[in-house]
Amino acid sequence: MDTKPAPALQQQRSGMEQNDRLDALQAQFGIIGRVSLEQGRNDLPLVRLNGRHGQALVSLEGGQVIDYTPTGQPPLLWLSQQSRFQPATPIRGGIPICWPWFGDHPDHPQLPAHGFARISRWQLLETRVEGDSTYLQLGLDSSAESRALWPHDFQLRLSICLDQQLTLTLSSRNTGGRPFTITEALHSYFRVGDIEQLTIHGLEGFSYRDKLQSLQEKTQVGDLRISAETDRVYLDSASTVRLSDSSLQRQIHVAKRGSLSTVVWNPWDQKARAMVDFDDQGFRQMVCIETANALSNRIELAPGTSHQLSCILSSEAG
Ligand code: BG6
Repeated sequence: MDTKPAPALQQQRSGMEQNDRLDALQAQFGIIGRVSLEQGRNDLPLVRLNGRHGQALVSLEGGQVIDYTPTGQPPLLWLSQQSRFQPATPIRGGIPICWPWFGDHPDHPQLPAHGFARISRWQLLETRVEGDSTYLQLGLDSSAESRALWPHDFQLRLSICLDQQLTLTLSSRNTGGRPFTITEALHSYFRVGDIEQLTIHGLEGFSYRDKLQSLQEKTQVGDLRISAETDRVYLDSASTVRLSDSSLQRQIHVAKRGSLSTVVWNPWDQKARAMVDFDDQGFRQMVCIETANALSNRIELAPGTSHQLSCILSSEAG
């Protein structure tokens, strides 16, 4: 006799298992009024953080912040309506984690773009509240699957702290016996009112590699405005970037620690249309300002050592 349940029943059971897992996570990590677990699209588990100054939503799939809304303001992060929310598939928007390589793998371009952290399921490790701060830590450790893509032992931790600002710290530790090199990014997608009314301050005078022109080296003259496809890696740039959004009348500050590269990306119309998970006109309401260590700013980690990359996001009317 065939004892396999019918597909519909199977689906129902796996939905029930997901619910049980979510209930268990809620019992272990929920904090009344501040941290709760919820089921996102396609049953993907999400963690909601609440505080006096705002709220954030984090997907365990990808270890990815998908919403940050400061109290009394429109959402700070852009999320594509076409995002697929499928396991092992990048979510388009929020703050994907690019790790342990940024962009294409330097030697094996067939490997997943931007590494595997953003397509991995992260573990929920800790939630905590201290006064106005709501704190969450996620983890991703090396495994047989990660070693098949990248032959190193590591411990990756993502700490998220929500208070007057949103602070993300990605901590990479080499737990193996050999040194390794990483490139990385907190690939933040910011929501703006109208890309053509946005001025980006803080990059003037820095040199950048233009990814649209075979990594040609150029220098930023004056503030940056975007009116066409843009894909640049500013090198040796540790300073805070300010987005002055005259259409939403908002200033966004992107401060950072442990980051020497700033990536600026907007696909503009044709590339946006070519991406299945990107709203056709979405490029008008977004810009990526990525807190990164890329190209020559790569990080070398000896056995037993670690590196921390942080971005601190804040905003005010103006
Ligand atoms: C940016 C890169 O960081 O991410 C771009 O500089 C890339 O070259 C963009 O197109 C989006 O990448 P993906 O893999 O999410 O489509």
